[in-house]
Amino acid sequence: MDIKNSHCVITGAASGLGAATARRLHIAGAHISVLDRNLEAATQIAQELGGDAYGLDVCNTGQVEQTIAALTKKAGTPRVLVNCAGIGKAARIVGREGNLSIEMFQQTIQVNLIGTYIMMSHVAREMIAAAAETPGQEHGVIINTASVAYQDGQLGQAAYAASKGGIASLSLPAAREFSRFGIRVMAIAPGLFETAMTETLPDDVRATISAQIPYPQRLGLADEYARLAENIITNPYLNGTTIRLDGAMRLPPK
Ligand SMILES: NC(=O)c1ccc[n+]([C@@H]2O[C@H](COP(=O)([O-])OP(=O)(O)OC[C@H]3O[C@@H](n4cnc5c(N)ncnc54)[C@H](O)[C@@H]3O)[C@@H](O)[C@H]2O)c1
Repeated sequence: MDIKNSHCVITGAASGLGAATARRLHIAGAHISVLDRNLEAATQIAQELGGDAYGLDVCNTGQVEQTIAALTKKAGTPRVLVNCAGIGKAARIVGREGNLSIEMFQQTIQVNLIGTYIMMSHVAREMIAAAAETPGQEHGVIINTASVAYQDGQLGQAAYAASKGGIASLSLPAAREFSRFGIRVMAIAPGLFETAMTETLPDDVRATISAQIPYPQRLGLADEYARLAENIITNPYLNGTTIRLDGAMRLPPK
């Protein structure tokens, strides 16, 4: 897929991996729609990149519908969707005092998995409508963000790992369904990256984690995620799978 002049929609693009992807795809010549529940921060990124900002909650179907209609009207059918909106909360299944973390589980699945699914469904429908006009061509790339926790979920990560496992498992059936429209679906499973999600890690924890990463012995940089997203978009043979981006790290049990 040629990035130049294509309309790229990125969720969670006000921060971290999404913002880095917005910047990199902008440099490659794309028009960027910056989607985030934090409209103020999204507007700043959009202004920096000459793109458009939209405030929404990705798990609110009505808001997603309105946003996709508005951004398609403004900048044309999206050719790329990168889903980076997500939350990462930790809790034991049964807490020390016997408390259950059911509400937190539901919220994590809602934002990470269902929000990704809702965004993918609505953007794919636009891509499919465009595909009917020019059959036989590549019409879109959808990249969802899992986490290495989908395979190595740590103690306390039941909700997060389950949400990311769902995202990883979506890649193949979605790629199969959309294949006849020339739309590819991939997932990236990052290890630990330097973003707002990890900035509160105490220095000693960060040093311990870094020492467990074979190479490079540091947290990943958001632009390294963005570079993989760019590679996926431009390489037509990448489809229907999940790529770990982790410096060969495997998360320990806790
Ligand atoms: N940073 C890491 O180490 C790491 C590792 C593995 C996976 N991930 C995943 O990468 C993705 C991006 O994470 P990040 O590190 O850039 O985090 P981040 O906190 O910097 O950015 C996440 C963005 O998503 C937005 N968001 C959250 N819930 C939303 C909702 N319901 N609707 C719309 N926007 C919403 C936030 O406002 C924020 O701008 C997440 O899915 C996260 O789980 C991150």
